[in-house]
Amino acid sequence: MKQFFTAGILAWNELHNDRSMPWKKEKDPYRIWLSEIILQQTRVEQGRPYYERFIAAYPAITDLAAAPDEEVFRLWQGLGYYARCKNMLAAARTVAQQHQGRFPDTYEGITALKGVGAYTAAAIASFAYNLPHAVLDGNVYRVLARFFGIDTPTDTTAGKKLFTQLAQDVLPGQQAGTYNQAIMDFGAVVCKPQTPLCKSCRLSSQCEAFQKGLTDLVPVKSKK
Ligand code: ADE
Repeated sequence: MKQFFTAGILAWNELHNDRSMPWKKEKDPYRIWLSEIILQQTRVEQGRPYYERFIAAYPAITDLAAAPDEEVFRLWQGLGYYARCKNMLAAARTVAQQHQGRFPDTYEGITALKGVGAYTAAAIASFAYNLPHAVLDGNVYRVLARFFGIDTPTDTTAGKKLFTQLAQDVLPGQQAGTYNQAIMDFGAVVCKPQTPLCKSCRLSSQCEAFQKGLTDLVPVKSKK
C-alpha cells in the first residue's frame, strides 16, 4: 500500500503535473522560505505577485534584513496577518546578524527561525537541501486520509501524531523535495477538497476512500 502510494505520487508528478509556480525548482533557501511564509495563510494565486515583488525588492535575505520596517510592511499590504510579516523580518535579521547572512542548512537551524513551524521547516529543508522531512499541510492530510482511509480527526493530538508518522513513512528518503512538492500539487489538482478527479486518478484502485465511497467524509475534523 505505502509503496504503491509513494510510487503513484511520483509517477503522477513525472507524467502529469503541470502546475507551475515561480518558486518551483527553486534551490535558494531564502526564496523558498519567503514563498512559504507568504503562502502560510494565502492562496498560491494571491501570493504569487507578492513573492515576485519581494524578490525584486530584496534579492538577498540581507537586503530584506536591512530594509526599514515600514517599507516591508508596505510591500506586505493586502496579505494581512502582520505577525507573519514581523516574524519574517525578525528571521531575516537573525540570519543576517547571527548566521553571516547564510540561511541555516539543518532542520534544527531552520526551525529555530521565528515564524517557521513544522510545515515550513520541512518544506525548506526538503526543497532547498533535499533533507528527508515530510511536509504536512491541508493537502497532505486530505490525500493521506483518503488513500489510507483514516477517519481519526486531523485536529487532535492523536490525529496529528498518526498523520505525522504516516507522512514520514511514505516519504521517499532520496527524493524528499520532489515528493513533498508532488503530494501538495496532487492534493491541489487531483485529490481536491471538492469533486476530486477520482476517475482519472492512478491511485483510485487502492484508495480506501474511493473504494468505499467516502471521499466526501474524510479527512475528519473534530472542532467547529
Ligand atoms: N502551499 C504552500 N507551499 C506550497 C508549495 N510549495 N506547493 C504547493 N502549494 C503550496
